[in-house]
Amino acid sequence: MSGGEAVAVQNLVWVPKAQEIAREAGARLREFFAHGVETEYKGDVDLVTVADRTVEKLIRERLGEAFPEHGIYGEEGTRDRMEGEFRWYVDPLDGTTNFAHGFPQFCVSMGLEQRTPGMLPDQDGTLVAAVIYDPMRDELYTAERGKGANLNGKPKQVSRIPHLAEALLSTGFPSRKRHASPNIHFYHEFTLRSHGVRRTGSAALDLAYVAAGRLEAFWEFNLNPWDTAAGILLVEEAGGKVTDFAGNPFRLDSREILASNGLIQDELVNLFKNMFAGRDLAPIPTPQEFAQRRAENRSKAEKGR
Ligand code: IPD
Ligand code: CA
Ligand code: CA
Repeated sequence: MSGGEAVAVQNLVWVPKAQEIAREAGARLREFFAHGVETEYKGDVDLVTVADRTVEKLIRERLGEAFPEHGIYGEEGTRDRMEGEFRWYVDPLDGTTNFAHGFPQFCVSMGLEQRTPGMLPDQDGTLVAAVIYDPMRDELYTAERGKGANLNGKPKQVSRIPHLAEALLSTGFPSRKRHASPNIHFYHEFTLRSHGVRRTGSAALDLAYVAAGRLEAFWEFNLNPWDTAAGILLVEEAGGKVTDFAGNPFRLDSREILASNGLIQDELVNLFKNMFAGRDLAPIPTPQEFAQRRAENRSKAEKGR
């Protein structure tokens, strides 16, 4: 068997094996969720629980057994075989804040990158396989490069909605350095120009939802590759587009992600451009202005009685 054929045969097992691992990991998350877990703080409001750590350890062991030559880059600190040709980006629990509060929106995310030997650490390889598992809904999203995206084994495509005005969107806010994030301004503008913006608390599921046609777009500042790797491949394989806010190709270390059904990507990029330039901003009343108007309306109503 040639080297190429060996890799082709190995390809066939990436997703089946990873989905088996993600299901086992998801079952562990369900158990922790049912019993409740104590929360620790990694930072200001950056939460971590025993579930995050236990499930990363489980995924690390299972991936290590299944693919002993593959690297693993996990949110909770795993850095195994980082020089290898293949690297899994693992978020054992995406949506920890939801999880810790008993809010059932979270997932396991695993994305596989293939890197060319000699590639510099800051260069991206190709995303070749993706698994995202939502254990509370038993929804398994899978993709392989060139083979499309699936939800519970059925092919999925991004939505065909062509305008932002008819789109449902999602975003997220960082738990670290919250004060440095301008995202509330974008949340406001996009809310006024669309059917609405959800803030679900799981970036990986948001991307999976874009792939499944449940959302038209998702954006966020300052995510990490373990949040995005699997979701990016899902969106691309479902026919969507992923770039930075300027419309440039997305890189795994990009601090900006804009993913959509492709049809509204230019409209979104244009809005980002205008907003960064201070154009096209819709004013909203300050709390003080609102309080004043409210008081005026009340006194008018009282006089009318
Ligand atoms: C977080 C979630 C959330 C996003 C945050 C992420 P975590 O990941 O994806 O939706 O807004 O930026 O950090 O900490 O729950 O794995
Ligand atoms: Ca995450
Ligand atoms: Ca996480």
